[in-house]
Amino acid sequence: MYNSKIIGLGHYVPENVVTNDDLSKIMDTNDAWIQERTGIKERRWVQPNTGNSTSQMGVKAAKIAIERAGIDKDEIDFIIFATLSPDYYFPGPGVQVQEALDIKTVGALDVRNQCSGFVYGLSVADQFIKTGMYKNILVIGSELHSHGLDKTTRGRGVSVIFGDGAGAAILSRSDNNESGILSTHLHSEGKHAEELALTTPGMGKRWVNDIIADNDPDDVSYFPYMNGQFVFKNAVVRFSEVINEGLQKNNLSVDDIDMLIPHQANLRISQFIQKKFKLSDDQVYNNIMRYGNTTAASIPIALTEAWEEGKIKEGDTVVLAAFGSGFTWGSVIIKW
Ligand code: ACO
Repeated sequence: MYNSKIIGLGHYVPENVVTNDDLSKIMDTNDAWIQERTGIKERRWVQPNTGNSTSQMGVKAAKIAIERAGIDKDEIDFIIFATLSPDYYFPGPGVQVQEALDIKTVGALDVRNQCSGFVYGLSVADQFIKTGMYKNILVIGSELHSHGLDKTTRGRGVSVIFGDGAGAAILSRSDNNESGILSTHLHSEGKHAEELALTTPGMGKRWVNDIIADNDPDDVSYFPYMNGQFVFKNAVVRFSEVINEGLQKNNLSVDDIDMLIPHQANLRISQFIQKKFKLSDDQVYNNIMRYGNTTAASIPIALTEAWEEGKIKEGDTVVLAAFGSGFTWGSVIIKW
């Protein structure tokens, strides 16, 4: 049995900074409300017609991760791409990465577990490496939310939270059994699928052609819906459970955590978890203030930045934890 280790990380965010004050010019909102509820000060939103798409941002992050890993693109055996905002309804963006990076015809898997997508992707990659099937796997999380949000006052409860960006990791086979990914833990609870979804709550399955056929100006089924307070309550419970599950599996305690990287859902959720686990500011990494919630991209962007800033060192115990639409949640315990 092999072990898997992250050997390269990269991220990309679009240049266009959108502050809370910028949003208050296009909808009835304000900096104080957004900061108080979410901690977000600004986010990046792709400028239309700049050639940036979910797959292209993913490719930019991937190129940096590959270079830092010190491998050739042709050494990549498999691609995993997590997103809820693909360029096309189908096919998913994994194949676009294979084409854009000119990688030989390796498999490309698309993961759609929303905010837990990168954690799910990393877990799948870990299993492929541990069984010996693949040696190097490219795992990407990327989102282009800004084109799919309701940027009017009607949509303000959701649209102020989300940002665009991408992060990527190269997971590689390692003979060192003392370090790398120690364990991954995945969960789902589909009964809450409609609490955070792109659907009309209570209306069941509606597809684009149903919306067009109805031609109802009040139908906002093509914008995401979120029951914010319900999501908050479930998130704090599930984050705690899945972090504890990972620690217990590896006979670790909260004191062993050198760095917790929670999915950047909302600064208030991260702070709640930090307080509950009695972690210091140095033990938790947050960047939602600058990027908003970038769903599947949030953990790889935060992990890359924490690593770039020297906050993750060899031998550290790093915990990744996510919760999101589905509901789905998960954790990854890493000995760096
Ligand atoms: N600006 C100003 N006012 C707003 C805005 C806004 N952007 N959005 C909503 N409001 C108003 C509402 O209309 C409402 O007004 P009313 O009282 O006159 O009806 C008032 O603010 C309170 O609205 P609530 O929705 O009750 O606000 P709440 O305090 O619940 O905060 C929030 C909303 C921030 C979404 C909160 O529920 C929350 O933090 N939820 C956690 C979910 C989360 O973070 N999701 C992130 C994405 S999901 C994920 O990653 C897991």
